[in-house]
Amino acid sequence: MRVLVTGGAGFIGSKVVGALLRRGHDVVVFDVVAGAGSEADSVVGDVRDRGAVAAVLNGVDAVCHQAAMVGLGKDFADAPEYVSRNDLGTAVLLAAMADAGVRELALAGSMVVYGEGRYGCPRHGRVRPGPRAAADLAAGRFEPRCPSCGAELAPGLVAEDAPADPRNVYAATKLAQEHLAAAWARSTGGRAVSLRYHNVYGPGMPRNTPYAGVASFFRSALARGEAPRVFEDGGQRRDFVHVRDVATANALALEAVRERAAGSFTAYNTGSGEPHTVGEMADALATACGGPAPIVTGEFRLGDVRHVTADSRRLREELGWRPEVGFAEGMADFAAARLRR
Ligand SMILES: NC(=O)c1ccc[n+]([C@@H]2O[C@H](COP(=O)([O-])OP(=O)(O)OC[C@H]3O[C@@H](n4cnc5c(N)ncnc54)[C@H](O)[C@@H]3O)[C@@H](O)[C@H]2O)c1
Ligand SMILES: [Zn+2]
Repeated sequence: MRVLVTGGAGFIGSKVVGALLRRGHDVVVFDVVAGAGSEADSVVGDVRDRGAVAAVLNGVDAVCHQAAMVGLGKDFADAPEYVSRNDLGTAVLLAAMADAGVRELALAGSMVVYGEGRYGCPRHGRVRPGPRAAADLAAGRFEPRCPSCGAELAPGLVAEDAPADPRNVYAATKLAQEHLAAAWARSTGGRAVSLRYHNVYGPGMPRNTPYAGVASFFRSALARGEAPRVFEDGGQRRDFVHVRDVATANALALEAVRERAAGSFTAYNTGSGEPHTVGEMADALATACGGPAPIVTGEFRLGDVRHVTADSRRLREELGWRPEVGFAEGMADFAAARLRR
């Protein structure tokens, strides 16, 4: 099939392009920046440009929408740019798809839609903690507390039916993208899938982005001969998923989406299923780089979530996805890889 990959020049998009080509698909990349040469057709343009999107949709069977502005942003003043690129951009793309009769979509979703992950209180069962208090963080009390009794909570795995709780502008725009995709599917009889990526890492990861960039920060510090600086107590749990596995998930989703019921929207957690702490990741990278051991600083950023780890069973069961890159292997590979500017 012929697939349009928006954002196909980016970190994840470029790997999706490679996976699709290897599986024998025909690919056209659409990105505001020109990609590094591959066998894919490449068009430079902005997803908010209706005419340019309409032109590139000609002959396309399915769209893989990776283009977005990522990161936490420097301050709230960035909000209009996030909404414009991510939500207006998605709306323009979907409207052009509606016109062109393109009915299949895989969207780059994100685990940020969940906010804090899932937690259990010994007395109150499953609870949803609010944002952590600055005073607690400053005192080194990093674990979220039960909203009813104040007990420290035990983290669990989030499934796709967990309530949405976006906690920053970027997260709000990623959730709105899903709502737009679901509305498009209902109104056009289209079929949409959102892959909610957890923390994606691997070769080609941008250097020092403020977003999901913790692996990249550590890697850059080690490249300068410095120790990685680990915030809080290093016990934050995340699901680090290798970009190669995320690329395969996109290819499988695009191949399967046509079998879905018309008008459907389905979200899939896309995580390795092997949770690790940020401290463990820093250790693995420092060891692989032969660099100085990480320093746990106790610093914190307000609004960071403590733990969020995925239950990716739906993706495994429904799409037959199997992550192939394990944590130790992936981190060793990443330690040796080049980063992008
Ligand atoms: N990296 C992660 O850990 C992670 C986690 C969850 C979700 N995601 C999502 O994955 C997708 C890809 O992210 P990435 O990490 O590869 O980031 P990236 O910045 O490397 O790639 C994004 C690409 O989109 C392009 N782009 C931005 N705005 C555009 C526009 N208006 N029109 C056309 N192209 C535009 C950029 O030029 C870039 O090449 C994004 O949708 C992001 O929200 C990433
Ligand atoms: Zn409680």
